[in-house]
Amino acid sequence: MTATVPMAATLPPGPRWPAVVQTAVWALAPVEFGRYCLRRYGPLFTARILGFGPVVHVCAPETVRRVLSTEAHRFDAAKANEAIRFVVGAHSLLLSGEAEHTARRRVLMRPLHGANVARYVEVMEAAVAREVDGWAVGSTVRLLDSFQRVTLEVMMRAVFGITDSARLARLRVLVPRLLAINPLVILVPAVRRNFGGHGPWARLTALVTEVDAIIHAELAERRAARRAGAEPGPDVVSALLACPEPVSDAELRDHMVTLLAVGQETTATQLAWLFERLLRLPDALAAVTAAAREADRADQNGRDVLDAAVHEAIRSRPTTMDLGRVAVEPWEADGFTVPAGTLVAVSLGLLHRRPAAYPDPDSYDLARRLQHGPGFLPFGAGEHRCLGASLAMVQMRTVLTAVLTAVTLAPDRAFAEWAAPKGPMLLPHRGARARVVAKGRPC
Ligand code: HEM
Repeated sequence: MTATVPMAATLPPGPRWPAVVQTAVWALAPVEFGRYCLRRYGPLFTARILGFGPVVHVCAPETVRRVLSTEAHRFDAAKANEAIRFVVGAHSLLLSGEAEHTARRRVLMRPLHGANVARYVEVMEAAVAREVDGWAVGSTVRLLDSFQRVTLEVMMRAVFGITDSARLARLRVLVPRLLAINPLVILVPAVRRNFGGHGPWARLTALVTEVDAIIHAELAERRAARRAGAEPGPDVVSALLACPEPVSDAELRDHMVTLLAVGQETTATQLAWLFERLLRLPDALAAVTAAAREADRADQNGRDVLDAAVHEAIRSRPTTMDLGRVAVEPWEADGFTVPAGTLVAVSLGLLHRRPAAYPDPDSYDLARRLQHGPGFLPFGAGEHRCLGASLAMVQMRTVLTAVLTAVTLAPDRAFAEWAAPKGPMLLPHRGARARVVAKGRPC
């Protein structure tokens, strides 16, 4: 009789360097670190990151699908987001348990989908026009800053439905200050110290308190308007206020801050990367500019090219590499056993850089749109798939079209910008700088 051989309770292989070295390389150059590990150990590897322990990275399409979709019940997304509880709040979608998550997703989904998103285009176009108006011919602009202002405007006016000009003006000052604080302050508990009201943690708490006060004033006014019989708007706040079961102000605040945290800087940064690439690739730029004019006339082919341009930016220059999950029970993959409690990093950044699927993976190539299969997941998959995917796509298409049809830009330097880590985000290191060559519709 042959004895059954138990599955080896070992973690997938990974670098043997001391954890401190792995942490430093991962923090400074996450793309290169991931690519080295993928080449050396294959699409399931373990990195040892201080503060997180062994982190099992997953980047083969079928294993990614297991974690995000078919075996999602074996993983906890909320646990992986614990570090940002202070900012996004206990009711955030990123932290809620399964039942609450499903119920709230349903409510938040409506204002962020389909025809509803089309209503936000006017706000997007006005915000871009204001930026472009301020660009003098011959000057150099930092596109990331402009796009952050545009996406903040869309979030405040369209997604939240805020109209009060004093509140809008104050948020325009406070949100960029929040974004300027190094996210390590949030992610590393040891840095969370209030040095007599000074230092980044003190600044962060003061800013969050002031943003919260503005949100609560807005909510009080919106509730009063509802009681007075005002028509609800198409925005997220109106949808939550209209829920049959009452939603507390604390919960509403957490949803608003979550959308701001996950939707605003991501979209702005992805747009910055898109321009950083296009401006250095004359053929792609010409194709996308022509498509922008066609899309202006509601041409489907033009729109497909714009979508391909956006997708290729997300694929080749993602704003984040990994999605976090914590295994809630021992999980077996490729002959290894990942113990319960282990952090699993679903690496979309590496999934989209598999050399077998994407030869020369760092190069930006519009033709790749024809190669995308089920292993292309720009907005994730499963129960946590991006809630703002429609909005993000419409927004990026709209901004791309509005900029390319209003102004001619060129890179201010020929060499490419590299990916500078800022917490979990990867930003073009010079903020996607561009020279304004001419204004008016190019012929
Ligand atoms: C280029 C822009 C964007 C990209 C690439 C992106 C990507 C993603 C990805 C990959 C996820 C999955 C996270 C996971 O599985 O753990 C996600 C989740 C999410 N995104 Fe986005 N996103 C973008 C813009 C937006 C915008 C504009 C909004 C909202 C207005 C938004 C709201 C959300 C929310 C609420 C979640 C969490 C969903 C949940 O846990 O159920 N995102 N996003």
